[in-house]
Amino acid sequence: MKTLLNLSVAALILAGGAFLYADDDEHEEHERHASNFIAKPMTKQEKTTVALYQKECGACHFAYQPEFLPKSSWDKTMKSLNNHFGTDATLDPAEHKTIQNYLATHASKYDRMTGMGGEIAIRISETPNFKQEHREIPKKMVTQAEVKSFANCSACHTKSASGSYREREIRIPNYGSWE
Ligand code: HEC
Ligand code: HEC
Repeated sequence: MKTLLNLSVAALILAGGAFLYADDDEHEEHERHASNFIAKPMTKQEKTTVALYQKECGACHFAYQPEFLPKSSWDKTMKSLNNHFGTDATLDPAEHKTIQNYLATHASKYDRMTGMGGEIAIRISETPNFKQEHREIPKKMVTQAEVKSFANCSACHTKSASGSYREREIRIPNYGSWE
């Protein structure tokens, strides 16, 4: 039983890892995936939905790509917008429904929360594979005024708005490129 469990955990980590520990080909794959919501051929309706998402969920912070969290996480977030990290991010019912559907459609198909003891993450930055990927970054680079927290993806990932997180595009304020 233990072996079985370990195997499935390993499989999950591997599956999730393809996203973060990608060789160049897989990385291209991920990039296309993460930039789904701005992919060129979009219907008029999709464009309207993306614009709505960016306006409403990009009002206070970077509009995170839905691909970074599974549906269960987005559902949890959408259920508690009246108390969203100490703010009120409530939407009118029609917009709420549109955004919830958008997040569900583009959500990560990987669990991403293996090792969190059943807890459903609402932060991308608290998921184990995010922490793993960012473990080498000294705290002072994150807590400095120009970044503040790991929630501020676009402070370091200069092309994150277009869904691209390549290492050569990283510029940490006051420290420069990561490579
Ligand atoms: C009224 C302001 C406001 C609006 C509107 C808002 N948020 Fe947030 N959100 C916050 C704050 C504040 C935080 C915490 C930021 C921090 O820790 O630096 C946050 C954090 C988050 C995080 C966690 C980031 C991380 O990985 O640490 C996610 C995910 C998120 N918001 C999603 C959404 C979604 C989806 C919407 C639209 C339905 C939305 N937010 C709209 C204020 C807002
Ligand atoms: C303080 C700067 C900083 C912030 C803020 C930050 N990152 Fe990163 N991120 C990095 C660095 C540096 C790396 C490369 C780490 C390494 O290779 O050791 C990285 C790596 C990544 C990777 C892997 C890229 C690859 O080539 O495989 C992804 C995906 C990513 N970050 C997404 C995010 C998201 C999403 C957010 C916001 C929720 C975020 N990051 C916030 C600095 C940051």
